[in-house]
Amino acid sequence: MMNKQELLENLEWRYATKLFDADKKIPADLMDAIEDSMVLTPSSFGLQPWKFLVITDRAVKEKLIEHSWNQPQVTQCSHLVVLTALKETTESDVNAFLDDTHAKRGGDKEGLAPYKGMMLGFLSNMNAEQKLNWAKSQVYIALGQLMTTAAMLEIDACPMEGITPAKYDEILGLEDSRYTTVLACPLGYRSADDKYAELAKVRYEKDRVIESI
Ligand SMILES: Cc1cc2nc3c(=O)[nH]c(=O)nc-3n(C[C@H](O)[C@H](O)[C@H](O)COP(=O)(O)O)c2cc1C
Repeated sequence: MMNKQELLENLEWRYATKLFDADKKIPADLMDAIEDSMVLTPSSFGLQPWKFLVITDRAVKEKLIEHSWNQPQVTQCSHLVVLTALKETTESDVNAFLDDTHAKRGGDKEGLAPYKGMMLGFLSNMNAEQKLNWAKSQVYIALGQLMTTAAMLEIDACPMEGITPAKYDEILGLEDSRYTTVLACPLGYRSADDKYAELAKVRYEKDRVIESI
């Protein structure tokens, strides 16, 4: 197990990278581990209302940068992850999840009926906008998992809300799909010229943020 000092050192080491070294690519085995980590992200009920697009195609990155406040990370990164949310979780998504649960865990399928009822009840209490917002909240958990995993592997990342999701949807062909862009996260290796790497972390003191009760 990683000791607590290593953990905190890696979390201190990570920062929202502004300049990537465009020549350094993430090795395939590490990228595999990052993808596995994203798959392992927990979500409400376990419903996983998301899809993650991993973009290395230079032409696609170049189309996206102008809809990303021209932030250079989009084209200079090794891999651009676009995190998308399932627009509307339906009963068939709940069924698919329960089929998978049964396939992985076996047992009595009928025993899952109360769980199904709970999920359908939860979803039926939300309108389309609320369902999308719920799905987006789950996507942010995946972003956290992605950033932390990357830091543990000493891979740099920049969480990025400074994009135009509708344009991303258009370019990535999502408009007629069930998914919509939430945010992006370029991954790669920091450039030696990125002065942001040297800046002190700005975080409130622990006693302001954490309260023991
Ligand atoms: C959801 C989210 C969206 C962000 N969007 C951007 C962005 O579009 N561009 C950027 O350079 N940084 C972006 N940031 C980075 C934050 O500014 C940064 O994480 C924060 O200032 C703390 O600094 P640190 O991550 O370097 O420790 C974003 C961060 C988060 C969590």
